[in-house]
Amino acid sequence: MILVTGGAGFIGANFVLDWLAQCDEPVVNLDKLTYAGNLENLASLKGDARHVFVQGDIGDAELVGRLLTQYRPRALINFAAESHVDRSIHGPEDFIQTNIVGTFHLLEAVRAYWGGLQGAEREAFRFLHVSTDEVYGSLGPGDAAFTETHRVEPNSPYSASKAASDHLVRAYHHTYGLPVLTTNCSNNYGPFHFPEKLIPLMIVNALAGKPLPVYGDGMQIRDWLYVKDHCSAIRRVLEGGRLGEIYNVGGWNEKPNIEIVNTVCALLDELRPRADGQPYASQISYVKDRPGHDRRYAIDARKLERELGWKPAETFESGIRKTVMWYLAHADWVEHVQSGAYREWVGLQYASPSA
Ligand code: NAD
Ligand code: DAU
Repeated sequence: MILVTGGAGFIGANFVLDWLAQCDEPVVNLDKLTYAGNLENLASLKGDARHVFVQGDIGDAELVGRLLTQYRPRALINFAAESHVDRSIHGPEDFIQTNIVGTFHLLEAVRAYWGGLQGAEREAFRFLHVSTDEVYGSLGPGDAAFTETHRVEPNSPYSASKAASDHLVRAYHHTYGLPVLTTNCSNNYGPFHFPEKLIPLMIVNALAGKPLPVYGDGMQIRDWLYVKDHCSAIRRVLEGGRLGEIYNVGGWNEKPNIEIVNTVCALLDELRPRADGQPYASQISYVKDRPGHDRRYAIDARKLERELGWKPAETFESGIRKTVMWYLAHADWVEHVQSGAYREWVGLQYASPSA
């Protein structure tokens, strides 16, 4: 079996669902269920004996140690993190605790477990750390896309905490020989994406008749990848990645934010037109920029393609259409995630919407 951390969040839940749709190898899913963790994402696994959910913290080394001893997983995939840049700007502490201190305790527990393994079990074990392109910092307009050897230059408390966790993972390989793999992926989108992030926020706000807040001039560039392609890349790296290596994951889909917002609006105009016949784009509102806002990310994923034969299956056009259709078909999920805690966040972040 495998142990997944953060498997009730956006990417982790997609990974667990895809994993169990493709094989019968059981998954132990350790998740703290922060505001971003949602068991509704895993509702289709109710009663499925192949999925064992455990609520807990990656920073609880004793709990992690117990789970490792009890289930003897052949791999651990670490998705658990605080993941939202804007929240890290309002309050970095949770990011330091989970992404740095939590990853450290997790690594210690795994080191103790792996140290006790022998023979084939020890040879086969893998620790796969899921990280982000944001650790590389920001690119200028003509710069080449990030490769795995790009300097690490994080600019937000979130990306700095992820970079620190990447360094710890690297050090545990170099010093203790822990069999680690790291993936650095670009912006994901797709089902179960929490509506604090750009694409789901735009869908949810558009349908609710609210403003669509675009930071600054809206010309910041992100490199978008459909979440299921990220999951397939992780599976590929887990199967065949070289120990201690970093693999960048991306879809060669660089787009300015305003283009993303306009695409979402156009799809909604087609699939769920406004009652008054006006375009959703009329709800776009330019607001104050994010402090320290990275201008451009772009991922060079050629190493993953060359070494492991991975390529994304979705184009941006097919993935974004599927995504908008998923949100339209899951009004209950959307309503439930917009809990009191979500409303508090929206109140804090978007209190003075004008630039
Ligand atoms: P998310 O915020 O949707 O989910 C994070 C999950 O981790 C939640 O279920 C939460 O409850 C859990 N969690 C948080 N702290 C925990 C702790 N201390 N112990 C156990 N569980 C804890 O995040 P996501 O977007 O699914 O991202 C997953 C991972 O992928 C993160 O490590 C993130 O840095 C990385 N990543 C995300 C993207 C993206 O575009 N979303 C891109 C590249 C990499
Ligand atoms: O690049 C990978 C990263 O992508 C992941 O590591 C992070 O976990 C994930 O949250 C994401 O980070 P971003 O900051 O790029 O994502 P976000 O959806 O918050 O913002 C995307 C872009 O849209 C960014 O340039 C900021 C802008 N934006 C965002 C929000 C929420 C807006 O213009 N308005 C908004 O209301």
